[in-house]
This record gives sequence, structure tokens and C-alpha cells, in this order.
Amino acid sequence: MQHLMRDKVVIVTGAGSPAGIGLATAKAFAAAGARVAITDVAEGSAPRRARDIGDEVRGYTCDVTDRAACEALAEEVLDAWGRIDVLVNNAGITQSRKVMDIARADYDLLMDVNLRGALHMSQAVIPAMAARGSGSIVCIASVAAQRGGGFVGGSHYAASKGGVLGLVKGMARELGPQGIRVNAVNPGVIITDMNSRAFDEARRRQIVESIPLGRFGRPEDVAGVCLFLGSDLSAYMTGSEIDVNGGIHIH
Ligand SMILES: NC(=O)c1ccc[n+]([C@@H]2O[C@H](COP(=O)([O-])OP(=O)(O)OC[C@H]3O[C@@H](n4cnc5c(N)ncnc54)[C@H](O)[C@@H]3O)[C@@H](O)[C@H]2O)c1
Repeated sequence: MQHLMRDKVVIVTGAGSPAGIGLATAKAFAAAGARVAITDVAEGSAPRRARDIGDEVRGYTCDVTDRAACEALAEEVLDAWGRIDVLVNNAGITQSRKVMDIARADYDLLMDVNLRGALHMSQAVIPAMAARGSGSIVCIASVAAQRGGGFVGGSHYAASKGGVLGLVKGMARELGPQGIRVNAVNPGVIITDMNSRAFDEARRRQIVESIPLGRFGRPEDVAGVCLFLGSDLSAYMTGSEIDVNGGIHIH
């Protein structure tokens, strides 16, 4: 397992949150032998987490809505480690809103971070991946895109993640000939800072009863699938979506 990602360089966005999917994903890649750059918009959070994981992990502050910042980050990683093999577009935000309450600013914010952010970071790493003729981009979408939300995020969240699925398929088609694979992961309900206070006890019970595997997801459940998609174990996969939802949405 420690050899799976040896000599590989990985970027994970939105990995500053201590209980989040991004940090668990960074740890999974580091445990598999990769050098990992973790980033987050929250000032100083990614460098702090990086120090906790180990020497082969570096932390950067980067707002994925800022294309120039994404490009500067990719340059820094290339300067430090000389290559970029995997990008995990994990940074994301949600909002609970009824359709009629979605203001222009709410819509813009979610689209900016969840969809434009994934495009920006992908644009930042594609030239280096194309130059080497290989790379894997993993985008975290959501079960919300498939079933129309219904847990925490409003319709604009579902739409932003639906946009991510379209972006993944379009990039996969265009970038495949350059050796770059692009795939999506659709988490179900994973308990993180995004939703840990969103459900009262009755709602928690109700949701868990509707999950065939009988529990909420953990960040590590998603991390393992990101590692699979980032590694050569998935060498013939591109344009795919993998559901990590305990069976809450089977289709
Ligand atoms: N938790 C779930 O149930 C669930 C379900 C489906 C999809 N997702 C998706 O998984 C991803 C990770 O979510 P999480 O549950 O770990 O949440 P989280 O809130 O713990 O982590 C998200 C991280 O993204 C960072 N971030 C926000 N805006 C950013 C920006 N502009 N630039 C860079 N970083 C930014 C935040 O600071 C935070 O650290 C998100 O894309 C989310 O939409 C989560």
C-alpha cells in the first residue's frame, strides 16, 4: 500500500477542515507514499494540518475562486516537487435555502466555489499533467446532484454539483487523449463540519434508517475512493462517477 503512490505528487483542495473529507483524503494519499499539497481558503488552516500529518505534506492557503491564486499554487508545487500527478477538487460549501429564498449572491457564491473552483484548479494543473502525458483529476460532486438535494443543501447546491458532473464528463472527453483521466465521486451523507449540526436526533435516526448500510458515512469512506481514482488501480476509468453513499441512493 505504501508503494501505491510512491513518487507521485497530489493536490487536495479544501483540506484545512480537521474533520473533513479533504484532510482524510490527504492522509490516505500520504499513507500510500505520495507527497501531498493540501490547500484551503481558511488562512493558515492547511499549513497547520500539514504539519500534523508529516514531512511529505505541505499546506498552502488558496482560494479556489481566484484563478491566479490557483495557478500560483500549482507553480509552487511544481517548484517544490517537480510534478503534479493527481488533483482532488474537494473544496466546497453548502447552504440550506428554499428555492424562493435563493438570492443572487447565494447562487453566485455556491457556483463560484463548487463549480468555478473545480474548473480553476483543473486549469492550473492541466498544463503540467499534459506535458507529462498523464494525470488524474478527481472531483467531489454529491448525491445532491443525483437526487435533488434533500439533506442539507438547497437546489442551488444540487445545481452546482450537477455542474461538476458535467464538467467532469466534458474534461474527461477532451483530456483523455492527453493521458489525463477525470472522474467524480458522489458522497452521500458524510458527517463533517458541513453538516454535523444540521440534523436533530429524530432526523438523524430517520436518515440512518433509510441507509442500507445502517450508518452515516465517514470522511475515510470517501478518501479511499479518491485514492483509488487517483492511482493506477483505476487506469482505464475516465468520465465516471462513483457513489459513496451507503446505498442511500441506488439507481
Ligand atoms: N459532508 C457531506 O455529507 C458531503 C456530501 C456530498 C458532497 N460533499 C462535498 O465534499 C466536499 C468536502 O466537504 P466536507 O463535508 O468535508 O466539508 P468541510 O466544510 O469540512 O470542508 C470543506 C472545506 O472547503 C474549504 N473551502 C471553502 N471555500 C473554499 C474556497 N473558496 N477555496 C478553498 N477552500 C475552500 C473550507 O474552508 C473547508 O475546509 C465538498 O465539496 C462538499 O460539497 C460533502
